[in-house]
Amino acid sequence: MPAGGTGRGWRSLAAAAVALALLSGCDGPQSALDPAGVEAERLAQLFWWMVGVAAVIWLIVIGLAVYATRINAEGAFPAKPTRNLIIGAGTLIPTVVLGGLLGYGLYLMPRLTEAEASYQIAVSGEQWWWRVRYRLPDGGWVESANEIRLPVGVRTEFLLTSPDVIHSFWIPSLAGKLDMVPGRTNRFTVEPTATGTYRGACAEYCGTAHALMAFPVVVMEPEAFEQWLQQLARPAQPPADELAAAGKRLFLANGCGACHVIRGTRADGELGPALTHVGSRLSLAAGTLPATPENFARWIARPKAIKPGALMPGFGMLAEEDIAAMAHYLEGLE
Ligand code: CUA
Repeated sequence: MPAGGTGRGWRSLAAAAVALALLSGCDGPQSALDPAGVEAERLAQLFWWMVGVAAVIWLIVIGLAVYATRINAEGAFPAKPTRNLIIGAGTLIPTVVLGGLLGYGLYLMPRLTEAEASYQIAVSGEQWWWRVRYRLPDGGWVESANEIRLPVGVRTEFLLTSPDVIHSFWIPSLAGKLDMVPGRTNRFTVEPTATGTYRGACAEYCGTAHALMAFPVVVMEPEAFEQWLQQLARPAQPPADELAAAGKRLFLANGCGACHVIRGTRADGELGPALTHVGSRLSLAAGTLPATPENFARWIARPKAIKPGALMPGFGMLAEEDIAAMAHYLEGLE
């Protein structure tokens, strides 16, 4: 049956091509199957072991099913071996296989939470953005938002919480996900193994803008990270030009400082994201827009058009050049 054989061959080839295409979609900045951290590597290992064992069991079961359809069942199954097969393959093997996988999973698990860490980052899931505080060498904390930077090859402990609803903190390339639960602090450690820019996201439905609650994660060399952290702890730099100075005046005059802090100015609000160094961040509105001057202006004018549910009021009633000046000021806060 050459025709049927060829058809099957093509089908196998097509299936292999589809599988390869699917797997090649598993790399990139937000993939648990393309790990760039010690914890994510362990999780990927567990995943592949489970897939492998499941595939072997599936092949055996399908093989037996095909075999069963092709034999003459009349007298083919004597009572005693059949009973042994049912007891062995039906209870013993699943118990051993599942017990083994459970043991392996438990063996990996404590390592995710019990290791010593060199740095601490406290992240609070807000509606719908991330409050990020870094522990400084002197024991104090400095606040930022919507972006996380980490040193490569160093263990960092995350302290996760939320003031109101449950979120889930997840950087698939670096580690597993962990819920942020109001009233408690959940902890886990992350040790990146490769520098680069990754993407984290909220992995628990938390309200209207849940799907627009992401954040870039930048993994840096330890020295570069130290320098960056020192810069983060400094107050905002003064406006570099006339337009930025006008933007700063407008920012303060329009009450933005009631919700946002810009350290070194009168703006000391705590409701919204800290903006002291907002110009150095890669994204706006929690991973929703790239941080370009145009997008700063768009966001200030109509935040709810970009992110339905955003709690920030729009300032579209201001003159376009005033909004442009504010955008220019904020974008310059490196
Ligand atoms: Cu926060 Cu979903």
